Amino acid sequence: KGTVLLGGGCYGIGAIYPLARALKAAGNRVICTIEASSAYLLYMEDALRQVSDELIIATKDGSLGVRGGVQEVLAQVAASGTTIDQFIAIGCTFMMRMVTRVAKSLNIPILVALNPIMVDGTGMCGACRVSIGDKTSFACIDGPIFDGHLVDWDELASRRSAYARQEVQALSQAVDLNALLYKPEKAS
Ligand code: FES
Repeated sequence: KGTVLLGGGCYGIGAIYPLARALKAAGNRVICTIEASSAYLLYMEDALRQVSDELIIATKDGSLGVRGGVQEVLAQVAASGTTIDQFIAIGCTFMMRMVTRVAKSLNIPILVALNPIMVDGTGMCGACRVSIGDKTSFACIDGPIFDGHLVDWDELASRRSAYARQEVQALSQAVDLNALLYKPEKAS
């Protein structure tokens, strides 16, 4: 591809690692950027440094690196004159939606890893249905990586929140996870 910018947030920080490693091995210039609300929530910085040419850290509270998130880093890297031949973002739907907006304004190709609700993961239940351009796809078997510019983000956000009320209700019925923890017996 040339120069590839990989953006990861939350679980996406781990998910961009194998992509960075493979893209680097294939001869691309790889820039990784990772975001978190605060520095203590970041992880895998050293691992990502080893498989990329540059690692840019962003935190929402400004405790480390750029203040902001992946979308701010994308805009900054583009403004610095670096040509980004491919951008790949993995993280929460909100982040991927926001970075797609920035990528569109900068005319940068973007791939995103969608995370709709999945049930069977085999293409049979239809729960993970997403609209990509004029086509209906199942994220579990057709994706999860799609062209961000073609994703119907409104539909995805609405389908992801379909059970929001039930999820909130379920919280109050949650089992005491502490009671399930393994507690070794003390040696006598
Ligand atoms: Fe059921 Fe994808 S999770 S079709």
